[in-house]
Amino acid sequence: MVKSLTSEVEVDIYDIIFKRKSIRKYDNSPLDENVLNRISEELNNLTPLYDDIKTYIKIISGDDVKLRGMKQAPHYLAIFSENKEGYLTNLGFMLQQMDLLFSASGIGSCWQGIPSPKSHVLKSTDLKFIILIAFGMPTETLYRKDTSEFKRKSLENITDIEEAKELLEPVRLAPSAINSQPWFFTGTKDMIQVCSNKPNFLKAMLVNKYISIDVGIAIYHLKVSAEHFKKTAIITFNKDEHIPKGCNYLTTIKLESKE
Ligand SMILES: Cc1cc2nc3c(=O)[nH]c(=O)nc-3n(C[C@H](O)[C@H](O)[C@H](O)COP(=O)(O)O)c2cc1C
Repeated sequence: MVKSLTSEVEVDIYDIIFKRKSIRKYDNSPLDENVLNRISEELNNLTPLYDDIKTYIKIISGDDVKLRGMKQAPHYLAIFSENKEGYLTNLGFMLQQMDLLFSASGIGSCWQGIPSPKSHVLKSTDLKFIILIAFGMPTETLYRKDTSEFKRKSLENITDIEEAKELLEPVRLAPSAINSQPWFFTGTKDMIQVCSNKPNFLKAMLVNKYISIDVGIAIYHLKVSAEHFKKTAIITFNKDEHIPKGCNYLTTIKLESKE
């Protein structure tokens, strides 16, 4: 359960996964000062996947962004990181916590790989700029009615673990750049091997930069799902020999019962 950014209500993030969507149409008025303060607090409390990677997240306004054809939002998170092994997956995992929290709080948001911050924002840190997330009050419907509205691969196309289908359904629904869903889950229900698909040459030019972020997002959805089923997700490296052809092994998620 998480506390909403806009009220005292507690929300189950697991439920949000089944209806969230990217929001691209915003009311241009800024959010209330108290809500922006709550967002800043949450940014300081995000759980990293790897805790030895420096990150910096700044709230900026729509006027601080070069839009490159995208619609303007009133606010953006500008996300920076140290360039270290696992840094993109770490950011995907951390910032998906905000994407779901925004949605749970009635605020729209969308990961934005195409726009970039103006130069004065880039000068605010020595860390490398990675990506933006737009956010603000939506002027389109915030939620999907049910999972049939998600355009996603079927479970059979993202996993060969028969007994983990219920656990992996919220992972199937995770967002990814140009909806490429570059993930595959193999192994066993207690030791899930996380892999990324190798894109074909043309697609690679568009998505290579985002694959690791996308996988971090999916790992966060897996953590939320594991907790819903009273399990703890532990990130390890334990490559099994049976990784299917065309998949890159990334990490293993060990699931332990909470009792
Ligand atoms: C890393 C990343 C980058 C993205 N970049 C953009 C973008 O530049 N512009 C945009 O409109 N949507 C962008 N998206 C949103 C995806 O297009 C969207 O998540 C995907 O199509 C699935 O739709 P949904 O989020 O509504 O479920 C991005 C998503 C991710 C995860």
